[in-house]
Amino acid sequence: MAPDDRSRALDAAHHAALRFLDSVAERPVWPRASLDDMLAEFGGPLPDHGLDAAAVVEEMAVLADPGLVAIPGGRFFGFVIGGTHPAALAADWLVSAWDQNSGSSTLTPATVAMERVAGQWMLDLFGLPATASVGFVTGGQLANFTCLATARHAALARAGRDVAEQGFRGSPPLRFVVGADRHGSVDRAARFLGIGRAELTVVPSDDQGRMSADGLEQALVGGEGPLIVCLQAGEVHTGAFDDFAALIPIAHRHGAWVHIDGAFGLWAAASPALSHLTAGMADADSWATDAHKTLNVPYDCGMAIVRDPADSIAAFRTGGDYLIYSGLDPWDVTPELSRRARGVPAWAALRSLGRSGIAGLLDRLHANAVAMASGLAAIDAVQILNDVEYTQVMFRVDSDDATRALGAAILDEGTAALTGAEWRGRAALRCSMSSWATTPADIERTVQAIRALVAV
Ligand SMILES: Cc1ncc(COP(=O)(O)O)c(C=O)c1O
Repeated sequence: MAPDDRSRALDAAHHAALRFLDSVAERPVWPRASLDDMLAEFGGPLPDHGLDAAAVVEEMAVLADPGLVAIPGGRFFGFVIGGTHPAALAADWLVSAWDQNSGSSTLTPATVAMERVAGQWMLDLFGLPATASVGFVTGGQLANFTCLATARHAALARAGRDVAEQGFRGSPPLRFVVGADRHGSVDRAARFLGIGRAELTVVPSDDQGRMSADGLEQALVGGEGPLIVCLQAGEVHTGAFDDFAALIPIAHRHGAWVHIDGAFGLWAAASPALSHLTAGMADADSWATDAHKTLNVPYDCGMAIVRDPADSIAAFRTGGDYLIYSGLDPWDVTPELSRRARGVPAWAALRSLGRSGIAGLLDRLHANAVAMASGLAAIDAVQILNDVEYTQVMFRVDSDDATRALGAAILDEGTAALTGAEWRGRAALRCSMSSWATTPADIERTVQAIRALVAV
């Protein structure tokens, strides 16, 4: 390929990116095309002959457009999905241009250094030990898996079992204790580790989804052997935080490894106004979180944080006569070997926002949630279902059918996107305030649209 082709392809991508991003404020938020529509556009047999790189980019941008969801805009409130901060987006482009395979600090010192510094900045923001290991993975799911694999390895090692050598079968039974309102990715991580759902000890939780301290004590008393207790910072629907100051000492008294799933909740620690929610969390042994949610970096970027890097190394350091080792390499702390420098956009977002900008972002997300809840509460049929202490708002209208129908109507109407759930056996709708781009005007516009739909 001539350098000119590359330049034209990158220009085409730049223009297409700006066209899309300029459109997100006014386009319908939910995609207008279905998967079948998109398969029809992109599918068919592999063409015999190739196409000029810029033409490929232009073709794909035009064909994809109706199937794109306006996640980077200010009125996407579905699941828990952040937007894209400009510094992180541009840095992500460079990550692709640089194409640094970032597992080894000898091979790719620039990107490994940026990731290491981003990790240190995050530990500082979260108030976690500065010596902890930070592994960059694809997201909260893999962060939970990575931390829990480390936890299993360490808990069994302390019971005299070397999992790397002897495997898991026939090892001392591992107790894995979780809250009733844990995220599904915890069960999934347990499954990947050979721990079935029936083997989990489930501790009851309160009306917001916070684990009961009495329940934890009862679940642990009298038991023995390797033990992992999994807590949560930010319940996916209510945004509620477990009471770490009460729960972690109980778990540690029983010899547990304590893991915290804080995919979006760990970030509360970075705001002086919200950090009370995370009080006591620094006493845990591992923490999972995401940068692609609250920090607003492009997909994908999660962090697996482990108090003692020696535990990460024991679980993950690889062998291989052709690999170069130098101190603590990225491939020592996660399951991946070759990988993208996905921590670089996180470095760029942190550098661009600074400590005060990050606290301000958190405070805005919380203020948006409070404004959304009070706007919706003023609509007669709407009932707010959670205490809005963080970034999540959950609501319903009179019946399950009407709630689900309202959810579908919101997506169809297009002003905003939010997604549904079941809460305590009843249908609910949930809004997650996760985007840096959301303004008070976006909240107002969304409330008006919902008010009009409820009135129909
Ligand atoms: C509490 C919690 N844990 C884990 C996850 C999984 O994160 P990811 O989708 O980044 O893998 C989520 C996703 O929303 C979550 O809210």
